[in-house]
Amino acid sequence: MSEHIRVLLSEEEVDARIKEIAEQISKDYAGKQVHLVCVLKGGSFFLCELAKRITVPVSLDFMSVSSYGGDTKSSGVVKIVKDLDEPLQGKDVIVVEDIVDSGRTLSYLLEMLRDRGPASLHLCTLLDKPERRVVDVKVDYTGFHIPDEFVVGYGLDYDQKYRNLPYIGVVEFDD
Ligand code: IMP
Ligand code: MG
Repeated sequence: MSEHIRVLLSEEEVDARIKEIAEQISKDYAGKQVHLVCVLKGGSFFLCELAKRITVPVSLDFMSVSSYGGDTKSSGVVKIVKDLDEPLQGKDVIVVEDIVDSGRTLSYLLEMLRDRGPASLHLCTLLDKPERRVVDVKVDYTGFHIPDEFVVGYGLDYDQKYRNLPYIGVVEFDD
């Protein structure tokens, strides 16, 4: 079975929106330093484009998580595969994610990061699929609300492919 990608959000649309979010963050964090926490691997493309356009001082850190498989997934318990290098104590933290889907990963992660004592903690996601939400998560900055379709590109993968696409697309299967 072959597959092709239908463009959902063009490179120009995505880039323009990221610029707007960066401007908003730069305003909201005026006079502060913002500490961006990227959730690998999906958040990495968005993080780079966003960070380049933020005009207040920025520091970065990275973490990688994976869901415990099967039934524990419903409990939202995630395993930290790679933890942050730096403490969050006293920092103005923004978690940068590719997509909020069920919200399970993020709600668990945010609770865990909050326990580390940041001065503030906010969430920025490139994409949000609100129809899919199972756990309530407060999203502070959203790039786009998208319908319930499986998307790739800009860091998002299908079977580890397509992360490098400079736009957001939907995987369609040809028969
Ligand atoms: P959730 O919000 O805990 O359900 O999980 C979100 C994670 O699932 C994201 O960080 C992605 O890694 C993955 N994910 C959810 N929807 C999609 C999609 O449409 N394409 C690719 N990955 C997705
Ligand atoms: Mg992700």
